Amino acid sequence: RTLDVVTDSADLGPYRHYMQKEIFAQPVALADTLAAALKHGFSPALFGSDAHDIFSKTTAIRIVACGSSYHAGLVARYWIEEYTGLPVSVDIASEYRYRSGKEQDGTLIVAISQSGETADLLAALRSAKERGQVHILALCNVAHSTLTREADLVALTHAGIEIGVASTKAFTTQLAALFTLAGSLAHCRQTLDPAALAELANCLPRLPAMFTDIFPLETALEEWAHELSHYNHALFLGRHTLFPIALEGALKLKEIAYIHAEGYAAGELKHGPLALVDEEMPVIVCAANDALFDKLLSNLREVQARGGKIFLIAEPGCEAAFDYCHRTITLPSKTGPLAPIVFTLPLQFLAYHTACRKGTDVDKPRNLAKSVTVE
Ligand code: G6P
Repeated sequence: RTLDVVTDSADLGPYRHYMQKEIFAQPVALADTLAAALKHGFSPALFGSDAHDIFSKTTAIRIVACGSSYHAGLVARYWIEEYTGLPVSVDIASEYRYRSGKEQDGTLIVAISQSGETADLLAALRSAKERGQVHILALCNVAHSTLTREADLVALTHAGIEIGVASTKAFTTQLAALFTLAGSLAHCRQTLDPAALAELANCLPRLPAMFTDIFPLETALEEWAHELSHYNHALFLGRHTLFPIALEGALKLKEIAYIHAEGYAAGELKHGPLALVDEEMPVIVCAANDALFDKLLSNLREVQARGGKIFLIAEPGCEAAFDYCHRTITLPSKTGPLAPIVFTLPLQFLAYHTACRKGTDVDKPRNLAKSVTVE
């Protein structure tokens, strides 16, 4: 039961919920967000006429954001550090605004917000401006927002209107735009050789199709969701760029299915959460077939030895992990550096169908708002 890719409009069409519609809108939203980069390649010009000058003089990057946008920032740190060597820190806006401390001159503040109106985020960037000679780059889904007005450079995501309170297409398009930012910084600062840069750029055209290729896995994830709906707790594990995706997967399950969920870096398991693992603890694991896979395997062994039920979402080539798992799903193709964007989709399906099974108000979860414009 796979629904076709849709474009933006306010009616639900064949969908039960806006969140479901927005999940299926992602191939188009991603293609729209990446259109300029696909046409012109990685370039500072994608971020404004002053971007070349600002990117060249950047000494450090500080990312500030809230909620899912903060998780997008955590992913971006891996990409920017790896491709540019610049030091990157990521802060929750509501914490940053009340911390003291100067900003090093030349710091580029990357403010990520779907709405561009989140009160804590706006306060954080105003505070950043008082802490040193900084520039602000806004990454936003709303062209005319308070955030874009107050920024030096603007990158827009083209997710279209997102109605579901739990972010889906806004989050994945933020990731796509942040990958473009990392590539454009590397291009401008000449920190990668042209072949390596071209290899990164060559990943982008396939991204929308990587999403449509995963849509047929929805039925299997719906079955997982039926099982998951009987539990009161869940752990999400990942390593490297999939660690923030574990956080995002846990956030989605909390937000819409009201199940207590924690996201952890798999390597942190033994520093606490392993004490929680028993037969009552489903553990959802995102596994990339990368240099850290062997480390992840030993984490899985630890979970299995304590009776934890592992639900594994894996890239091809991770079959060695299957013996430790209760359920497994293999993605149709390798995801490379885009892994965090692609792995988000199965976790969205999982949270969505768990919420449907529990009968919650998927698009308007209790106590939450789409845009938090008060402190
Ligand atoms: C609310 C929404 C989240 C969103 C967060 C930050 O909590 O429910 O989905 O991630 O605000 O919003 P922003 O518009 O700044 O990205």
